[in-house]
Amino acid sequence: MRFDVITLFEPMFAAVTENGITSRAMQRGLWSLYTWNPREETEDNHRTVDDRPFGGGPGMVMMADPLARTVRRIRRSGNVGRVVSFAPNGTRLTDETVRRWVAEDRDMVLICGRYEGIDQRFLDNYVDETVSIGDFVLSGGELAAMVLIDAVVRQLPGAIKELSTLDESFSTGLLDAPHYTRPEVWEGQAVPEVLLSGHHANIAKWTREQALELTLRTRADLIEKAKASGKLSETDRLWLKKHGYPV
Ligand code: ADE
Repeated sequence: MRFDVITLFEPMFAAVTENGITSRAMQRGLWSLYTWNPREETEDNHRTVDDRPFGGGPGMVMMADPLARTVRRIRRSGNVGRVVSFAPNGTRLTDETVRRWVAEDRDMVLICGRYEGIDQRFLDNYVDETVSIGDFVLSGGELAAMVLIDAVVRQLPGAIKELSTLDESFSTGLLDAPHYTRPEVWEGQAVPEVLLSGHHANIAKWTREQALELTLRTRADLIEKAKASGKLSETDRLWLKKHGYPV
Protein backbone atom coordinates (compact mmCIF):
# COMPACT_ATOMS: atom_id res chain seq x y z
CA MET A 1 0.00 0.00 0.00
CA ARG A 2 1.30 3.41 -0.91
CA PHE A 3 0.84 6.53 1.24
CA ASP A 4 1.59 10.03 -0.04
CA VAL A 5 1.52 12.61 2.74
CA ILE A 6 1.22 16.36 2.27
CA THR A 7 2.86 18.07 5.24
CA LEU A 8 4.92 21.09 6.23
CA PHE A 9 6.87 18.81 8.59
CA GLU A 10 8.24 15.92 6.53
CA PRO A 11 10.83 14.75 9.12
CA MET A 12 8.06 13.89 11.61
CA PHE A 13 7.23 10.81 9.55
CA ALA A 14 10.51 9.13 10.51
CA ALA A 15 8.49 8.09 13.58
CA VAL A 16 6.70 5.47 11.47
CA THR A 17 9.33 4.76 8.80
CA GLU A 18 12.23 4.21 11.20
CA ASN A 19 10.71 2.50 14.22
CA GLY A 20 9.11 -0.80 15.12
CA ILE A 21 6.49 -2.80 13.24
CA THR A 22 5.79 -0.14 10.61
CA SER A 23 9.49 0.18 9.80
CA ARG A 24 9.93 -3.59 9.43
CA ALA A 25 6.80 -3.80 7.27
CA MET A 26 8.24 -1.10 5.03
CA GLN A 27 11.55 -2.99 4.71
CA ARG A 28 9.52 -6.05 3.67
CA GLY A 29 7.88 -4.00 0.93
CA LEU A 30 4.37 -4.09 2.42
CA TRP A 31 3.94 -0.33 2.20
CA SER A 32 5.71 2.80 1.00
CA LEU A 33 5.60 6.45 2.03
CA TYR A 34 6.32 9.65 0.12
CA THR A 35 6.12 13.05 1.76
CA TRP A 36 5.37 16.29 -0.09
CA ASN A 37 5.79 19.83 1.21
CA PRO A 38 3.12 22.19 -0.21
CA ARG A 39 5.66 25.04 -0.03
CA GLU A 40 7.25 23.44 -3.10
CA GLU A 41 4.09 24.33 -5.03
CA THR A 42 4.10 28.05 -4.19
CA GLU A 43 5.41 30.78 -6.49
CA ASP A 44 5.98 33.78 -4.18
CA ASN A 45 9.31 34.60 -2.52
CA HIS A 46 8.03 33.71 0.93
CA ARG A 47 6.61 30.38 -0.25
CA THR A 48 3.34 31.23 1.47
CA VAL A 49 0.96 28.38 2.30
CA ASP A 50 -1.41 30.17 4.70
CA ASP A 51 -3.36 33.42 4.97
CA ARG A 52 -5.80 35.25 7.24
CA PRO A 53 -9.37 33.93 7.38
CA PHE A 54 -12.10 35.79 5.46
CA GLY A 55 -14.69 36.97 7.95
CA GLY A 56 -12.05 37.49 10.61
CA GLY A 57 -11.16 35.36 13.57
CA PRO A 58 -7.95 34.12 15.12
CA GLY A 59 -5.13 32.27 13.41
CA MET A 60 -4.37 31.45 9.81
CA VAL A 61 -5.94 29.15 7.21
CA MET A 62 -4.08 26.90 4.78
CA MET A 63 -4.60 28.11 1.22
CA ALA A 64 -6.30 25.83 -1.28
CA ASP A 65 -3.96 26.24 -4.23
CA PRO A 66 -0.62 24.89 -2.92
CA LEU A 67 -2.47 21.85 -1.56
CA ALA A 68 -4.40 21.28 -4.81
CA ARG A 69 -1.25 21.54 -6.89
CA THR A 70 0.46 19.02 -4.62
CA VAL A 71 -2.44 16.56 -4.91
CA ARG A 72 -2.33 16.88 -8.71
CA ARG A 73 1.40 16.20 -8.66
CA ILE A 74 0.83 13.12 -6.48
CA ARG A 75 -1.87 11.92 -8.90
CA ARG A 76 0.53 12.30 -11.83
CA SER A 77 3.14 10.30 -9.92
CA GLY A 78 0.75 7.35 -9.79
CA ASN A 79 -1.27 7.45 -6.54
CA VAL A 80 -4.95 7.34 -7.52
CA GLY A 81 -6.15 6.32 -4.04
CA ARG A 82 -8.42 7.78 -1.39
CA VAL A 83 -7.68 11.36 -0.25
CA VAL A 84 -8.02 11.82 3.52
CA SER A 85 -7.57 14.97 5.57
CA PHE A 86 -7.40 15.28 9.35
CA ALA A 87 -9.33 17.59 11.68
CA PRO A 88 -11.27 17.39 14.92
CA ASN A 89 -14.49 17.92 12.94
CA GLY A 90 -13.97 14.77 10.85
CA THR A 91 -15.48 11.29 11.15
CA ARG A 92 -14.02 9.38 14.09
CA LEU A 93 -11.44 6.76 13.06
CA THR A 94 -12.47 3.27 14.19
CA ASP A 95 -11.12 -0.27 13.99
CA GLU A 96 -13.95 -1.04 11.55
CA THR A 97 -12.82 1.69 9.13
CA VAL A 98 -9.18 0.64 9.46
CA ARG A 99 -10.05 -2.99 8.63
CA ARG A 100 -12.17 -1.94 5.65
CA TRP A 101 -9.32 0.17 4.26
CA VAL A 102 -6.87 -2.71 4.73
CA ALA A 103 -9.27 -5.06 2.89
CA GLU A 104 -9.80 -2.57 0.04
CA ASP A 105 -6.01 -2.20 -0.32
CA ARG A 106 -6.21 1.23 -2.02
CA ASP A 107 -3.37 3.75 -1.92
CA MET A 108 -3.96 6.86 0.19
CA VAL A 109 -3.15 10.55 0.00
CA LEU A 110 -3.05 12.09 3.48
CA ILE A 111 -3.43 15.85 3.94
CA CYS A 112 -2.01 17.26 7.18
CA GLY A 113 -3.47 20.65 8.04
CA ARG A 114 -1.75 23.15 10.34
CA TYR A 115 -2.97 26.44 11.76
CA GLU A 116 -6.75 26.91 12.18
CA GLY A 117 -7.64 24.67 9.26
CA ILE A 118 -7.78 24.30 5.48
CA ASP A 119 -9.73 26.38 2.94
CA GLN A 120 -13.09 24.60 2.61
CA ARG A 121 -13.01 24.76 -1.20
CA PHE A 122 -9.95 22.48 -1.26
CA LEU A 123 -11.71 20.04 1.09
CA ASP A 124 -14.86 20.09 -1.09
CA ASN A 125 -13.03 19.56 -4.37
CA TYR A 126 -10.10 17.29 -3.51
CA VAL A 127 -10.76 15.39 -0.29
CA ASP A 128 -12.83 12.18 -0.03
CA GLU A 129 -13.08 12.19 3.75
CA THR A 130 -11.95 14.05 6.84
CA VAL A 131 -10.90 11.92 9.79
CA SER A 132 -10.69 12.76 13.50
CA ILE A 133 -8.75 10.57 15.92
CA GLY A 134 -10.62 11.85 18.99
CA ASP A 135 -12.33 14.71 20.77
CA PHE A 136 -9.27 16.86 21.38
CA VAL A 137 -7.31 19.34 19.31
CA LEU A 138 -3.81 18.58 17.97
CA SER A 139 -1.42 21.20 16.61
CA GLY A 140 -1.70 19.65 13.16
CA GLY A 141 -2.74 16.59 11.20
CA GLU A 142 0.68 14.88 11.25
CA LEU A 143 0.23 12.87 14.45
CA ALA A 144 -3.28 11.88 13.34
CA ALA A 145 -1.90 10.77 9.93
CA MET A 146 0.73 8.66 11.69
CA VAL A 147 -1.97 7.15 13.90
CA LEU A 148 -3.87 6.16 10.76
CA ILE A 149 -0.72 4.81 9.05
CA ASP A 150 0.26 2.76 12.11
CA ALA A 151 -3.25 1.35 12.58
CA VAL A 152 -3.50 0.36 8.90
CA VAL A 153 0.04 -0.92 8.33
CA ARG A 154 0.10 -3.24 11.35
CA GLN A 155 -2.96 -4.98 9.87
CA LEU A 156 -1.46 -5.52 6.41
CA PRO A 157 -0.99 -9.25 5.78
CA GLY A 158 2.56 -10.16 6.86
CA ALA A 159 3.15 -7.14 9.11
CA ILE A 160 2.63 -9.09 12.35
CA LYS A 161 1.47 -12.61 13.21
CA GLU A 162 -2.11 -12.86 11.87
CA LEU A 163 -3.45 -14.19 15.18
CA SER A 164 -2.29 -11.10 17.06
CA THR A 165 -4.86 -8.90 15.35
CA LEU A 166 -7.72 -11.40 15.62
CA ASP A 167 -8.36 -11.23 19.37
CA GLU A 168 -7.13 -7.73 20.20
CA SER A 169 -9.35 -4.90 21.42
CA PHE A 170 -12.36 -4.04 19.20
CA SER A 171 -12.01 -6.98 16.78
CA THR A 172 -13.94 -9.16 19.24
CA GLY A 173 -16.38 -6.34 19.91
CA LEU A 174 -14.88 -5.88 23.40
CA LEU A 175 -11.77 -4.37 24.94
CA ASP A 176 -8.81 -6.70 25.24
CA ALA A 177 -8.39 -8.70 28.48
CA PRO A 178 -5.32 -8.05 30.67
CA HIS A 179 -2.02 -9.79 29.87
CA TYR A 180 0.66 -11.26 32.18
CA THR A 181 4.19 -12.55 31.72
CA ARG A 182 7.07 -13.76 33.93
CA PRO A 183 7.81 -13.68 36.80
CA GLU A 184 4.83 -15.56 38.28
CA VAL A 185 4.96 -13.34 41.38
CA TRP A 186 5.97 -9.69 41.10
CA GLU A 187 5.88 -7.15 43.96
CA GLY A 188 3.89 -9.68 45.95
CA GLN A 189 1.25 -10.12 43.24
CA ALA A 190 0.69 -13.50 41.64
CA VAL A 191 -0.48 -14.09 38.09
CA PRO A 192 -4.14 -15.29 38.02
CA GLU A 193 -3.97 -19.02 38.68
CA VAL A 194 -6.09 -20.07 35.72
CA LEU A 195 -3.44 -18.74 33.32
CA LEU A 196 -0.91 -21.23 34.72
CA SER A 197 -3.33 -24.17 34.58
CA GLY A 198 -2.77 -25.14 30.95
CA HIS A 199 -6.56 -25.68 30.71
CA HIS A 200 -7.36 -23.97 27.43
CA ALA A 201 -11.14 -23.89 27.80
CA ASN A 202 -10.92 -22.38 31.29
CA ILE A 203 -8.37 -19.84 30.10
CA ALA A 204 -10.61 -18.83 27.18
CA LYS A 205 -13.60 -18.49 29.54
CA TRP A 206 -11.61 -16.39 32.05
CA THR A 207 -10.20 -14.18 29.28
CA ARG A 208 -13.65 -13.54 27.81
CA GLU A 209 -15.10 -12.70 31.24
CA GLN A 210 -12.22 -10.31 31.95
CA ALA A 211 -12.90 -8.60 28.61
CA LEU A 212 -16.62 -8.36 29.40
CA GLU A 213 -15.92 -7.00 32.89
CA LEU A 214 -13.43 -4.38 31.69
CA THR A 215 -15.62 -3.28 28.78
CA LEU A 216 -18.70 -3.05 30.99
CA ARG A 217 -16.78 -0.97 33.55
CA THR A 218 -15.00 1.47 31.22
CA ARG A 219 -16.82 1.42 27.85
CA ALA A 220 -20.40 0.22 28.31
CA ASP A 221 -21.21 1.79 24.92
CA LEU A 222 -19.16 -0.98 23.29
CA ILE A 223 -21.36 -3.64 24.94
CA GLU A 224 -24.37 -2.10 23.18
CA LYS A 225 -22.49 -2.08 19.88
CA ALA A 226 -21.31 -5.68 20.31
CA LYS A 227 -24.90 -6.70 21.03
CA ALA A 228 -26.21 -4.90 17.95
CA SER A 229 -23.60 -6.45 15.66
CA GLY A 230 -24.14 -10.00 16.94
CA LYS A 231 -20.75 -10.27 18.65
CA LEU A 232 -22.15 -11.45 22.01
CA SER A 233 -22.63 -15.19 22.56
CA GLU A 234 -25.33 -16.72 24.74
CA THR A 235 -22.64 -17.28 27.42
CA ASP A 236 -21.70 -13.57 27.21
CA ARG A 237 -25.35 -12.60 27.71
CA LEU A 238 -25.69 -14.85 30.74
CA TRP A 239 -22.53 -13.37 32.29
CA LEU A 240 -23.78 -9.82 31.66
CA LYS A 241 -27.21 -10.61 33.11
CA LYS A 242 -25.58 -12.10 36.21
CA HIS A 243 -23.61 -8.86 36.61
CA GLY A 244 -26.67 -6.65 36.45
CA TYR A 245 -26.54 -5.66 32.79
CA PRO A 246 -29.77 -6.41 30.93
CA VAL A 247 -29.18 -7.89 27.46
N1 ADE B 1 -6.03 17.80 13.78
C1 ADE B 1 -6.16 18.51 14.91
N2 ADE B 1 -6.82 17.82 15.83
C2 ADE B 1 -7.13 16.61 15.27
C3 ADE B 1 -7.82 15.46 15.73
N3 ADE B 1 -8.35 15.36 16.94
N4 ADE B 1 -7.95 14.42 14.88
C4 ADE B 1 -7.45 14.50 13.64
N5 ADE B 1 -6.78 15.56 13.17
C5 ADE B 1 -6.62 16.60 13.97
